[in-house]
Amino acid sequence: MKFFADTADTDEIRDLADIGLLDGVTTNPSLVHKSGRDFKQVIAEICELVEGPVSAEVAATEFDSMVAEGRELAGIADNVTIKVPLTWDGLKACRVLSQGGTMVNVTLCFNANQALLAAKAGATFISPFIGRLDDIGLDGMELIEEIREIYDNYAFATEILAASIRSANHVKYAAMAGADVATVPPAVLKGLVKHPLTDKGLDAFLADWGKTGQKII
Ligand code: G3P
Repeated sequence: MKFFADTADTDEIRDLADIGLLDGVTTNPSLVHKSGRDFKQVIAEICELVEGPVSAEVAATEFDSMVAEGRELAGIADNVTIKVPLTWDGLKACRVLSQGGTMVNVTLCFNANQALLAAKAGATFISPFIGRLDDIGLDGMELIEEIREIYDNYAFATEILAASIRSANHVKYAAMAGADVATVPPAVLKGLVKHPLTDKGLDAFLADWGKTGQKII
């Protein structure tokens, strides 16, 4: 499973990239607003920090403007991935941009038929929003399972990018369901390594090693 950071905070991205576990980044207009940064400048900086795909979302909602904005954003760096919403105009823009060689991440996906349309439109990634489905009492993980089954049935190349992830369990169950990518808030990503028994066990090992009076180097 690939790990993307779901943030436009370049300090957080730098920290995660240093660990060596970061395969890409996703942003969206809300995350860009939260960063307080110039959109195109922060995308350019992120593309310098991470070799993998960096999602930048168009603001337009009409086909022609979506394509124009997508081409503008794609010009920032080779690893820019254009995010378009799951609308008819977004799907049309996805087809044109992907046929032109641009990676496209179709976002705001909430059911399997939407994901099927995105794959047929040539999407590089589909972003089903797990957390927002859970928020309204539906089963976000069931959507990942449904998309996985459909994509495998027809050997679609589109990668399932599990999004709207809120917890370590979301990461685990998305991996079990066969998502290709999880885009994870930095705090959740950093927390994946933690377990109290690991900390407790390491403390005990170090205490006992100290009693040996030995050094390795
Ligand atoms: O990439 C989509 C993600 O940022 C949405 O997350 O928590 O706003 O549903 P959330």
